[in-house]
Amino acid sequence: MPAMNADVLKRQAGEFAANLVESGMIVGLGSGSTAIFATRRIAQRLHSGELAKVHGLPTSLATEAAANELGIPLTTLAQHPRLDITIDGADEVDPDFNLIKGGGGAHLREKIVAQATERLVIVADDSKLVDQLGTTWAIPIEVIPFGWESQAAYLESLGATPRLRMVGDAPFTTDQGNRILDADFGPITDPASLARQLESRAGIVEHGLFIGMTRDVVVAGKSGVRHLRRI
Ligand code: A5P
Repeated sequence: MPAMNADVLKRQAGEFAANLVESGMIVGLGSGSTAIFATRRIAQRLHSGELAKVHGLPTSLATEAAANELGIPLTTLAQHPRLDITIDGADEVDPDFNLIKGGGGAHLREKIVAQATERLVIVADDSKLVDQLGTTWAIPIEVIPFGWESQAAYLESLGATPRLRMVGDAPFTTDQGNRILDADFGPITDPASLARQLESRAGIVEHGLFIGMTRDVVVAGKSGVRHLRRI
């Protein structure tokens, strides 16, 4: 998909979801190139007076910087342990609304915020919809720097091809100071069971599989925006 067109779809999905926010809500602000459109639209609605008393809780340092620049009042999980809604992107969405996230390396904070949220709304262009997770995307796995090679070997033993994420010549560093292994498993038959295997390993801080965490997906495609919901 040409970059320009993808951006239009991301904006449509993000802005649609931002319109689900109501005055007085505590709102999780997702990370990435789709969620930022929701964050910008929330800021617009606040500044126009259409929304009031909304507080945002950013899922990454990058989103925090953007929200500050946009003038969205921010809060923390200490001040507000429960959120009403979080709007976030995804790298893949399967028919059961299980997700791969973490393309930007923010999935640990994203999952913490999602777990604390009443309603996680995922925004995506329709290129993110897949029949099986792992089809187009490796699973981002945050590991602590100590002994990360041992976690890479563990991922290989589970059938993955792991790759240490780099930025130029240096390893990518997460907001927590950790590393990311992008683990290519190919199409995954049982993502819930794989998630449990990843969670059982010391040194793996968090993986990018989001299982059963959302019932709302806003997806934009050529024929418009669809709000997909599961009961
Ligand atoms: C950030 O780490 C991710 O989980 C993003 O939410 C995800 O990668 C989607 O990003 P884009 O909207 O930029 O594709």
